Formats: sequence, structure tokens, C-alpha cells
Amino acid sequence: MAQVIVALDVPTLDEAMGLVDSLGEETRFYKVGLELFTREGPSVVRALAERDKRIFLDLKLHDIPNTVARAVDRARELEVEFLTLHTTGGRAMMEAAAGAAGDDLTLLGVTVLTSMTASDVEDSWGRAVESLEEDVVRLARLARAAGVGGVVASVQEAAAIKNALGAELVVVTPGIRLAGDEAHDQARVSTPAEAVAAGADYLVIGRSVTQAPDPAEALRRVCEEASAPRTVPTT
Ligand code: C5P
Repeated sequence: MAQVIVALDVPTLDEAMGLVDSLGEETRFYKVGLELFTREGPSVVRALAERDKRIFLDLKLHDIPNTVARAVDRARELEVEFLTLHTTGGRAMMEAAAGAAGDDLTLLGVTVLTSMTASDVEDSWGRAVESLEEDVVRLARLARAAGVGGVVASVQEAAAIKNALGAELVVVTPGIRLAGDEAHDQARVSTPAEAVAAGADYLVIGRSVTQAPDPAEALRRVCEEASAPRTVPTT
């Protein structure tokens, strides 16, 4: 099975806590992203902690090593469990971040955003991209070598990462949609069942739950699919 993390992609603390309270006990894990943190700051983390929730702070840090290390230190003080940074920030940046993270905070390296296609990556990096998967595995390897505990990647690359780098590297997959739901701006989407079958440890789900007519029922379906036995297929 994989654990389900709900992305609280809403603008205000009140809306976020209304959503958390309406979703009940199906999952305890919530992701606070750029929109909510920019508006509400650490108060949203404290409100989740008061409700005994696990917290993933998705700030996707990418800056010089000293600046990132200091931001990681502040996140550690907030007692969040997961924090993201971009693996393309480089080895020195990730090493500095890992040094600041300590044992209680797991850093997750973002490899290639699930909204990006190979052609988008070619435009950004100015070179041909033979296989997005190869670049994702290369960035995941760099992250692990720098002491980062996990990666964020699409379901399509999850099995390749697990096979190349071993089971201990945590793999978190966003871009999850219940069958029949809209992809929105995600270029690479998969169902919860596909994510579990690819070996993902954690599934991040936003709009398929938060914009569903009945969010609690949508979350129940996601958790049910995610409870299937986790496998890591050979790639
Ligand atoms: O609504 P949806 O399920 O697409 O939301 C996905 C969430 O996962 C968003 O909060 C987005 O910022 C986040 N995410 C992502 N791709 C990554 C890292 C995080 O979509 N590589």
C-alpha cells in the first residue's frame, strides 16, 4: 500500500481547515504548497499540527546553498515532516540542505515537474532529451548522493527510480487522477492504482479530491485504491 497526501491548494487558512475537517480521518497527511503558505505562513502548519496531522511543506526551494540551508533550518523548527527542493539546484545546494535537515525532516528532491513534457524540458535546458526517464533517474541519483531522503516524480518514472536506486529512497508521486477525472495542467497523470503498482510510497492528490462534488467520497476511493499491495515492477 501507499500513503495518501492531500494537497491543500486553497487560498486561505479557513478554507484549508474546512477541507481538512470535512475529510475526516481517511488520511492524516496534508501538503501545504506555495499558494497557502504565501498567504498564511506558518500559522497553517501550526493549525494542522494542533489537529495532529502530518505535514508536507512543498516550497520547492531553489537558491544558493546558504540560503536554502537556512530556509530548511526554519522548516525544521516548524516540525514539518517533508520539505521539497529542486534537484536542479545542484549537488552543493542539496548537500547544504541535507546538513540542515537533521533526522526528523525528510527532504524530497523535485526531479522534473509532472506538468512538463520532454519537449518543455528541451526548451528549458537547451538540449535534446532522448528520454525523460533517464533525466529523472539521473537527478534522483544526484539527490541521493547529496543526502536527500526522497524524490518527487511522476508515476511513469517511479519504478525506474526504485529499480535504479533501491527501496530506501522515498518516492512521492503527484499527478494522480481518479479514472475519468480531468488532467488540468498535468502532462503526466496516473490513477492511484497505477501509482501503487509502480512502487510509489506516497501519493499526492489535489484537485481530484478538493474539486470533487463530494471530496470525502473521492478521498475514500483514492485511499481504497492506494491500499492495494505495493509492487516494484522490473523496468
Ligand atoms: O491538483 P493536483 O492533484 O494536480 O495537485 C498536485 C499537487 O502536487 C500540486 O500541489 C503541485 O504543486 C504538486 N506537485 C506536482 N508536481 C511536482 C511536485 C509537486 O504536481 N513535481
